[in-house]
Amino acid sequence: MHPYLLPLYGLLVLTTAWTLSSLFGLYQNYQKARQFGFPIIINAVNFQNPFVVFLGPRVLPSLSRIPFGIGSYFKHISVDWITDDRYKTHQRLGNAISIIDPKWLRIFITDASAIEDVMNRRKDFTKPRVFYQPVEILGPNVDTVEGATWQRHRKITTPPFNERNSALVWKESVRQAQQMLTFWLEQGKSITGTSADTLTLALHVLTAAGFGQEYSFSSNLQAPPAGHQLSYRDALNDVLRGFLPLIICGPDSLSKWYMPKGVKAVGLAVKEFKQYMKEMVTRERQLIEKRDSSNHANLISSLVRASEDGKSASQSLDDDEILGNLFIYNLAGHETTANTLAYVITLLSINPDYQDWIYEEVTQVLQEAGSPETWQYEEVYPRLPRCLATMLETVRLFMSVPSLMKIATDGPQPLTIDDKEYLLPEGTFVVNNFAASHTLPRYWGSDSLHWKPKRWIGTEDNITGMKGFGEIVKEAPVRGCYKPWGEGPRVCPGKKFAQVEFVAVLATLFKEWTVRPQSRPGETSQQTTERVQAVLNDSRLEITLQMRNPTSVGMIWERRSERLQG
Ligand code: HEM
Ligand SMILES: *[C@@H]1O[C@H](CO)[C@@H](O)[C@H](O)[C@H]1NC(C)=O
Ligand SMILES: *[C@@H]1O[C@H](CO)[C@@H](O)[C@H](O)[C@H]1NC(C)=O
Repeated sequence: MHPYLLPLYGLLVLTTAWTLSSLFGLYQNYQKARQFGFPIIINAVNFQNPFVVFLGPRVLPSLSRIPFGIGSYFKHISVDWITDDRYKTHQRLGNAISIIDPKWLRIFITDASAIEDVMNRRKDFTKPRVFYQPVEILGPNVDTVEGATWQRHRKITTPPFNERNSALVWKESVRQAQQMLTFWLEQGKSITGTSADTLTLALHVLTAAGFGQEYSFSSNLQAPPAGHQLSYRDALNDVLRGFLPLIICGPDSLSKWYMPKGVKAVGLAVKEFKQYMKEMVTRERQLIEKRDSSNHANLISSLVRASEDGKSASQSLDDDEILGNLFIYNLAGHETTANTLAYVITLLSINPDYQDWIYEEVTQVLQEAGSPETWQYEEVYPRLPRCLATMLETVRLFMSVPSLMKIATDGPQPLTIDDKEYLLPEGTFVVNNFAASHTLPRYWGSDSLHWKPKRWIGTEDNITGMKGFGEIVKEAPVRGCYKPWGEGPRVCPGKKFAQVEFVAVLATLFKEWTVRPQSRPGETSQQTTERVQAVLNDSRLEITLQMRNPTSVGMIWERRSERLQG
């Protein structure tokens, strides 16, 4: 053989081996999937494959357009196929679908009562360790551990999310929203940085209510302080940016040769971030020693104190665990809330009627409450059901977490889907598909894809939520179909934190101001609305769901009184 052919020959052998082992894996998973009798979708490639992760967003859409049915083997591969698909595949194939690839078999479910069941049976359906371990970058934490360890973590990490903390969240959110608005108005007309700015706002609410450090909205956090190579914000951002590859490929492959430079930089960011967290814990311990409890309501303070109070190791967290949990507060609490705010501002910009609707509530309820900085959380927050409804509707369609994967644990687990019981062998992956259950017309009606906050408002009869002026926030139409914050024992502990932040920001922004998208030259207002809608539709899952191209729409803020005159 000619020596130049050697590499080619090697490549051929490798490709053949890869193809054969893929086919074998597919065959095995197909046999496993058949026993359930759900429709089976076959993916040519495993969704964790690094090439899928990095090239997928660019390559998969073209591959899935290959004719003669071949394209369909690529349609459901990416981790976020469900966010575009929503209920469509489930409506076509049923409430449970087996999706197989050469490596995994996953059952996607959208049946409300099955979702409710899976989410509540904490011990029967646990988190798959393989996907959560990478989140232990700084240490084990409440998001990643299971069993008795999880109980210990949860017991110490949940109490900090109390009403005293909510009051702090409220106050800081109002303050940041006011400063953000000032910052926008100072810039002149059209704001394209809404998403970046809500990230800043959410970060500052988190540092204040979470870690006892207040920043003004436009303070420059970019410069690293002495002893640091990165600023706090950059370190956090780089860790978060590198996070999807980290979760999907595992920490060990981050420095492999084929990884882009950016991914390798995550290592430095992790180190820097850890140092910041350690400094905060040290400062908190010094405060405890000095018996200074002025800052008691923030999360880090309660966490460190609760852990110091723990009588024994079985009731407290060690240092790695404290750092791990501080990290998870940052990870879970930052982009989720920030992106939800970016979505709502964009949505409201093309729904002026809903701006009026919110305005009506804010002015009527807060008539005597004075200007935002004097609003008292305890009095004001419970009286703004329209603002909360607006959030519920926003995360219904633009959910930060479009699905949650669980794994059948401790022997085979029975699960009832569509009133029929199935026995899922230990190790079966179950994916709760919220993107579908949040939009299935069977649960939500024929306008299920429309953003309509009013659907959440009821009158006193169907009471469950909080009271405004005669209005209340309703429950979801069917139990189990709406889970933006998860459910059961592992429900998001930051749910109230996020809701209080959202309501405070919304009320502050829309009390006196209105927003509209900037039109392009020659564009009708109808066309502008459609363009903004297209930007909203073009969302993808990074760590959480976000718009791909938010800077392509400019937002114009005007004082309400001026808009009405003009
Ligand atoms: C719009 C905002 C938010 C959304 C949509 C959201 C959603 C979720 C979801 C779906 C889960 C997973 C539940 C499960 O695994 O079963 C979760 C867990 C968690 N969230 Fe949030 N979250 C938000 C804001 C926050 C905030 C502000 C914080 C903290 C400051 C936070 C902290 C956590 C933690 C620590 C967990 C893990 C709990 C456990 O596994 O026991 N989240 N969140
Ligand atoms: C809630 O109350 C409204 C108005 O009274 C009524 O139209 C609606 O059917 C009720 N919804 C439920 C789920 O009971
Ligand atoms: C955006 O998505 C909604 C819901 O699927 C659809 O009705 C609308 O036509 C889409 N708009 C654009 C401009 O893509």
